[in-house]
Amino acid sequence: MPTRNKFYVTTPIYYVNSKPHLGTLYSTILADVTARWNQLKGKEVFFLTGTDEHGQKIAERAEELGKTPQELVDSMVPFYKKMWEKYEIDYNHFIRTTDEDHKAAVVKWIKKLEEQGDIYKAEYTGWYCVPDERFVSVSSEEVEKDENGNYVCPSCSRPLRQISEESYFFRLSAYEEKLLKFYEENPNFITPKERLNEVISFVKSGLKDLSISRKTVKWGIPFPGDPEHTVYVWGDALNNYISAIGYGASDAGSQKNFEFWWPADLHIMGKDIPRFHAVYWPAFLMAAGLPLPKKLLVHGYILMDKQKMSKSLGNVIDPDQLAEWYGVEQVRYYLMRKMSASQDSHFGLKDLEECIASDLANNLGNLLNRTVTLALNNGLETVEPAETWEAQSAALRDKCEEGFRSYWDGMNHYQYHVALGDLWKFISEVNAFFHAQKPWAVAKENKELFAEIISAVSHSLYSIAVMLWPVLPKKMEQLLASLGCELVAGENYEEILRKNVWNKTFVLKKSDTPLFPRPESRVKEEKPEKPAKKEKKKGPETPSEISFDDFVKVELLAGTILTCEPVEGSSKLYKLKVDLGPRGERTIFAGVAKEFKPEDLIDKQGAFVGNLAPRKMMGDVSQGMMLFGKDKEGNFEMVTLSGEVANGTRLS
Ligand code: MSP
Repeated sequence: MPTRNKFYVTTPIYYVNSKPHLGTLYSTILADVTARWNQLKGKEVFFLTGTDEHGQKIAERAEELGKTPQELVDSMVPFYKKMWEKYEIDYNHFIRTTDEDHKAAVVKWIKKLEEQGDIYKAEYTGWYCVPDERFVSVSSEEVEKDENGNYVCPSCSRPLRQISEESYFFRLSAYEEKLLKFYEENPNFITPKERLNEVISFVKSGLKDLSISRKTVKWGIPFPGDPEHTVYVWGDALNNYISAIGYGASDAGSQKNFEFWWPADLHIMGKDIPRFHAVYWPAFLMAAGLPLPKKLLVHGYILMDKQKMSKSLGNVIDPDQLAEWYGVEQVRYYLMRKMSASQDSHFGLKDLEECIASDLANNLGNLLNRTVTLALNNGLETVEPAETWEAQSAALRDKCEEGFRSYWDGMNHYQYHVALGDLWKFISEVNAFFHAQKPWAVAKENKELFAEIISAVSHSLYSIAVMLWPVLPKKMEQLLASLGCELVAGENYEEILRKNVWNKTFVLKKSDTPLFPRPESRVKEEKPEKPAKKEKKKGPETPSEISFDDFVKVELLAGTILTCEPVEGSSKLYKLKVDLGPRGERTIFAGVAKEFKPEDLIDKQGAFVGNLAPRKMMGDVSQGMMLFGKDKEGNFEMVTLSGEVANGTRLS
């Protein structure tokens, strides 16, 4: 059997009741970076995206607008295509669920399930969430009521509708054991792993058969053999992943295509829809006798500090506006660098501007500019590799290899923000090398050493540009052009860069435009209002001395931070999950979001007050307190232990 050096990656297909926004853009950029990353490894890549066009939500939106559903979806698809084009989303196919070949594939799938007895007709009486297009079981899920006493969707909190209609059911319950076995055998099926645990407990709580048709929804694929019904929109939509590559087509070419690409290597989605992809989709595939996808990457939400955004900046989070102000690739970089693929993350314009100025303009752009300008000003255009490298250059070459390894590892584990953080550490090392070597002074005294320094920096820049290409494709092509190089399609750059052989000859060229111009600030600084003179809060007095007995009442414990998430509606707070060993896991809020990034805290061991009375915070409960101190400059520092001790160890 020939090795199948292929990679098939998908985005969710987007509902077209609204235009693309930062959240949908984020899913799509993640997929684009992943697709390009695999191209860089020399793989043959198929990248699928598209639109989810049937169902009640679209039908109702069309009615509101006085359009037919078909008119509505046809008018919305161009917004998606244009936005993806603007953001350099290099997909291979854009599927629409209204495509004829997709409809034919869904019909084939339903017929197959019917033939083998996986489908039966019955009455569905229950609750439905139209925005999420999902059936909700009020008896077995944690369903709350709103202030008017209406049940609300456990996922999106919008009111549920009660429906009672004849429906076709898929025997999902028959797949419970098989699904559990599959999860057990494939513990890495979902990244991050916590999401798999959620899915497992959902399945273990008992699977009910799933309604897969709607009689009262006319906008959909007619149910084969019973056109009074339409196929339930998720039964229709999930099949896009196979219909797009030829499932259901009768010609030999499509069948071969399907066999080559299926199963998908990666489905990417937000955290609201793993149940559909990790439970229903595998069960549908098992029923159809098809292999299951290899992996799901579930990302968190992009949160906005709403107050700040709406107050001073209006609708600037429109991706078109962002692209115009800051540049497409700068926004791509920020999203990959600052949003953690596995957790919720805050999006902030000020942060975006600082990130572009510091990482891109100062650290990387300036390094390239200084190197090329200095070399050309000293008559050095063609830069040959050194025959033997001086110790400092060899040390930089070793760091380049370390940088490569950690970056590659992070990227391979879909930890893009971590990988980019590591790569920027290496870029800082290259900057430090440049300053320490003082090439501007060496140029006057030692031409050979000068050429070696420029060559060492150019080799480093070359590796950096190749590694960053998936995130910043055109910018890195521009960088490579300044070094007189280009990427070669089909090459396996993992192998090339891993060798870290510095034997390239560079032909330097000054670029007409700076790689990363400094962004003009669009954020209006809000002057802090003078605080009204507050009466000093009367708290408990701090006694100058306390008794030993009082001291030991405070239970100080060692603990490790497992997760760290921003808190919606607060720019200061983080919600931490802390491992306190035998005391279990606790949720603890810490007001340090301005001082630390989540990755600065995750996996760190610190000191916690374990017996503070629980306190309601931001709709949750904080079950303790983390200790921080301030350094000379007034910056917060974590109180840490000099060596690792077992979590839960008492420190007081
Ligand atoms: N049509 C379904 C998917 C069907 S796939 C067979 C759907 N569409 S959607 O348009 O509502 O959402 C698509 C994706 O965008 C989801 O994965 C969702 O999580 C993501 N996002 C929407 N808002 C988001 C943020 N604010 N942040 C990050 N992603 C979020 O669901």
